[in-house]
Amino acid sequence: MLMKTEAAEAFRVEKLTVDYGGNHGPLQDFSLSIRQGEVTCLLGRSGCGKTTLLKSLGGFVVGRDTGGVLFEGRYLNGPTPDIVMIFQENNLFPWLTVRGNVEFGLKFKPRSQRRGDVVDEMLRIVGLSDAASRYPHELSGGMRQRTAIARALVSDPHVLLLDEPFSALDISLRRRMHALVLELWEKTSMTMVMVTHSIEEALQVGHRVVVLGNRPAKVLIDANTRAPAMKDRYSPEFLALQQRIESVIY
Ligand SMILES: Nc1ncnc2c1ncn2[C@@H]1O[C@H](COP(=O)(O)OP(=O)(O)OP(=O)(O)O)[C@@H](O)[C@H]1O
Ligand SMILES: [Mg+2]
Repeated sequence: MLMKTEAAEAFRVEKLTVDYGGNHGPLQDFSLSIRQGEVTCLLGRSGCGKTTLLKSLGGFVVGRDTGGVLFEGRYLNGPTPDIVMIFQENNLFPWLTVRGNVEFGLKFKPRSQRRGDVVDEMLRIVGLSDAASRYPHELSGGMRQRTAIARALVSDPHVLLLDEPFSALDISLRRRMHALVLELWEKTSMTMVMVTHSIEEALQVGHRVVVLGNRPAKVLIDANTRAPAMKDRYSPEFLALQQRIESVIY
């Protein structure tokens, strides 16, 4: 069914219920709008339904009875190549090299002569040109996630969904990954939704930070974090929002 949505809306979650067959599911009549071209970060206590929400945006979990997820104005009934999801780990095919994994991202694209160029360019952007012939078990955690991001982006999706993609990385590597995500966003203006447990990560990377409460999930804080002061972890604005978020989550 085609529904009229505002031009700037990528997703509209409308009274979505996901209960995994039990009575008290994580999402009950949950609604949220995700704007196109914006990086939205989701925070919330463990088990509150962040992954469930992200999977719903990816079409991997379809709500029951009434409600659902509108993607670009249409109800989402299953996964689509326009929406790519990256998990915490194990995103790669272990039997394929870095290049093979990235090339796999083009599987659903029409064949073109420039496929090799596209892969080379993406490997360069994520800094993996020299590791192209290595296998996943020969990579560090950061390199594996960069490969996963490269594979996601070569397919030129409309949306990138990231579920705690950097939580297994140390803090300096994490910060480099934040810079990479922002660089990729500058190039593509892609709609991204990222789940994280790190308030700092959410504020650094997100244009908007949404904090979810528990059982059933509800929006506790919905903050615009575009201002430069929000990107400076020592600014009063950053610290005030961090404190507010901590007070509702913990
Ligand atoms: N496939 C499933 N079958 C049954 N219950 C599930 C399933 N997936 C998640 N749940 C339950 O739904 C609730 C929300 O889970 P979800 O994974 O969405 O939480 P989360 O916010 O991502 O948590 P975390 O921060 O720990 O990753 C939890 O109580 C979980 O046990
Ligand atoms: Mg989760």
